[in-house]
Amino acid sequence: MSSSKLPVDLFDEKVEIYRQFLPLIRATNGAQPQTNTWDIPYTISKLSYLTHSHYRYYGKFPSVVAGQLLEQFPPPSNEHYVLDNFCGSGTTLVEAKLRGIKSYGIDISWLSCLASNVKVNTVDTKKIKTELTQITNVFYKTVSSCVPPEDSFVQKWFTKEATQALFALREIILVIPSSNEKDFLLIAFIGILRRVSKAFDGEVRPHINKNKKQREVFEAFSKKVRDMCLNHEDYMDLIDANTFSKCLLGSNIKLPSLFDDGKCHLVISHPPYLNSFNYAPVFSLEFYWGKPFEQEYADGFQDLQKKELTAHPASDKVIDAYFKHLEQCYKETYRIQSTGGYLAIVIGDCTRNGELITVLDRMVEIVKGIGYKPYEFNYRTTHYGLGKYAYQHRADYHGDAQKKDGILVFQR
Ligand SMILES: C[S@@+](CC[C@H](N)C(=O)[O-])C[C@H]1O[C@@H](n2cnc3c(N)ncnc32)[C@H](O)[C@@H]1O
Repeated sequence: MSSSKLPVDLFDEKVEIYRQFLPLIRATNGAQPQTNTWDIPYTISKLSYLTHSHYRYYGKFPSVVAGQLLEQFPPPSNEHYVLDNFCGSGTTLVEAKLRGIKSYGIDISWLSCLASNVKVNTVDTKKIKTELTQITNVFYKTVSSCVPPEDSFVQKWFTKEATQALFALREIILVIPSSNEKDFLLIAFIGILRRVSKAFDGEVRPHINKNKKQREVFEAFSKKVRDMCLNHEDYMDLIDANTFSKCLLGSNIKLPSLFDDGKCHLVISHPPYLNSFNYAPVFSLEFYWGKPFEQEYADGFQDLQKKELTAHPASDKVIDAYFKHLEQCYKETYRIQSTGGYLAIVIGDCTRNGELITVLDRMVEIVKGIGYKPYEFNYRTTHYGLGKYAYQHRADYHGDAQKKDGILVFQR
């Protein structure tokens, strides 16, 4: 058990790591519905405790946003669950499992589903470490004789040595029989791609960094696996392995019939922010190297990615389709939820050509039109660095009075 996990607070109470960084909440007097400010003055690395750090997912929300919502709206029974209908890398699922809450996610991307499921599934870390030793032996025996791909994409983004090593490593992972441990190793492999590429690590959409010193592939992979094992062991110490959680591959505009059970107590929903970026191009390096795994992990659903909610660039057509998609997906959550259930939408305003688009106000109108009642509006500030490419056009979270980033809570 790591020493940072259970610190002692001022009153000598033990506070679990996932409750240490919850938002600092300030209520606004007299507002209807109840309105608050959520301040989250912590760095990404502080918020990436336990399995949150397994996979760098560009555009995820701070773990404690999901944590706070789950603390405020706990399901009334073990049969009730939370659904994240834009699951991404599974932040909600991780936080739900820590609290013993049943959870489902749904995402259009097989990579997101895989990352989400790896973060919450239990694994045998001893087996993984043994597997790593075997992979190491095979890797060093085979790497020099590998004939890697030489297409223009790989040449643009990876050095020859990195390509050779990634190819050799991928060949080894490809033949591992399906298991949670294989999924874990695959996420470690996919998780190092940006770091060993020629692209900036921190920029959302890949851009070449001419001054980059790439990490050596195998060294990065084995370190990643070992770090993930440590974090996973800490996670498994805190969870009840019987708490159900799963991310399903699919589009949120039509939810599978398994959700027709009336037991969805809380929907946490974090759509791509308008005029920010689309996910598929951001993960182009990962999808390139992940291609041979697609059959296994996205069997029959390869075309799904075309149904990704497009958020960028915010042309009139994209804006129109964006709100139509959101309307449709919240009609779906309304359909499956019972009276009293909650919907929390994490969303931000944006600008287009310097002009403000009040996404939040528009969302409130749409969701009210579906039948949900406004329950509580929370506006957040987050002290993240602003990436050159990442956040130019969107909420900057630093108290710009007009441009809001909010967690809008409604009740069915
Ligand atoms: C802002 S991210 C969510 C990040 C998540 N909150 C996290 O912390 O990792 C939005 C996600 O929506 C997914 N998405 C886009 N269109 C979708 C659709 N039609 N159905 C389900 N998921 C979709 C994207 O693949 C992306 O992973």
